[in-house]
Amino acid sequence: MTTRGDRTVYLDNQATTRVDPRVLEEMLPALGGVYGNPASRSHRLGWEADALVETARERVADLIGAQPGEILFTSGATESDNLAIKGALPFLRERGCHVITVATEHRAVLDPCRQLQDEGLLELTTLGVDEQGMVSVDELRAALRDDTVLVSVMQANNEIGVVQPIAELVAATHEKGALFHCDAAQSVGRMAVDVARLGADMVSVSAHKLYGPKGVGALYLRRSGRRVRLQAQVLGGGHERGLRSGTLNVPGIVGLGMACRLAGEEWQDEAQRVLGLRQRLASRLFAGLDQVQLNGHPEHRLPGNLNLSFACVEGESLMMGLPDVAVSSGSACSSASMEPSYVLRALGRSSEQAHSSIRFGVGRFNDESDIDFAADRVIAEVERLRKLSPLYRREEREVASG
Ligand SMILES: Cc1ncc(COP(=O)(O)O)c(C=O)c1O
Repeated sequence: MTTRGDRTVYLDNQATTRVDPRVLEEMLPALGGVYGNPASRSHRLGWEADALVETARERVADLIGAQPGEILFTSGATESDNLAIKGALPFLRERGCHVITVATEHRAVLDPCRQLQDEGLLELTTLGVDEQGMVSVDELRAALRDDTVLVSVMQANNEIGVVQPIAELVAATHEKGALFHCDAAQSVGRMAVDVARLGADMVSVSAHKLYGPKGVGALYLRRSGRRVRLQAQVLGGGHERGLRSGTLNVPGIVGLGMACRLAGEEWQDEAQRVLGLRQRLASRLFAGLDQVQLNGHPEHRLPGNLNLSFACVEGESLMMGLPDVAVSSGSACSSASMEPSYVLRALGRSSEQAHSSIRFGVGRFNDESDIDFAADRVIAEVERLRKLSPLYRREEREVASG
């Protein structure tokens, strides 16, 4: 068996990614000598910082096929999602207040929608998904109403990696005259994201999902054709065209820009390589263990995402037994109790199946030896836990006795 000493094999790239050393290097001047405030118009240090911010804006725009003037910097995808949803509605109120989203969205979309619904400021329809996690375009069409003003659907899911048919969903939404917001935190930098091809009006981006720093992101806001108007949610100095006040996080923004530049140059080769590693992991686990189930669509998914349920094994116990492999389980620690993942529940998985799932997220810095090490460790640990499981032993006896 491959050993890793005291190193942890990191396979949690949907939670966050390691900052690429090239990103870090690009950020260093903005943490040192270039310390001006980009809003300072009266001296060289301010102009230098502003130039770094504008270069980053161009790089983000280039990656997603937008214009620099369509990119707003934020503190991450959570803020971008909140700003898109809460900010767009006041300007749409004349038309209506019906909003459509999907049961498997990130909390950064679901929670603001629910809060506005509780306050009586919107009427919410939450679409379900099929057993592979896909949203149906026909179901969206059926849910759209004359007073629907906004539809919010993520491009790639953070737990099961499922990639939705965004361009088709946008087309259906636009036929009814509503706006479309897409949370692309998981997809930007990992697959093709072109705002012109997708047609979405607002797109959320997060730097730390594409090998950039945490605490910085962007919101794409369409300015061509039908312009999207937003009400600022953070008021103050009027930064970012008055839509998001607050002194800009220059090092973070520089990091986001560099992460986008590298992704633009490398994502296609990287996606192929990461897909190969994910397939290697899947083949090893399916060959080495019985009663393993894939969660999410087999093809329409992020290259690096593998979400599996291991029957008769608690995901939490499995993770505890794998201190040298960083993965995450299908349980979310909300309040004192461990709730089964609402995403897996939306696919029709039982609470037991959801509790027995593990999300593997392969990324840029993984190699074959990581995959082989993780596969060996998971197989050994699942076998150990199943030996302790009366349920699994009973099932084994039943299979043996025919
Ligand atoms: C799909 C999705 N949306 C939003 C977020 C929140 O992003 P951030 O951490 O940048 O606020 C995440 C990250 O957890 C995510 O995966």
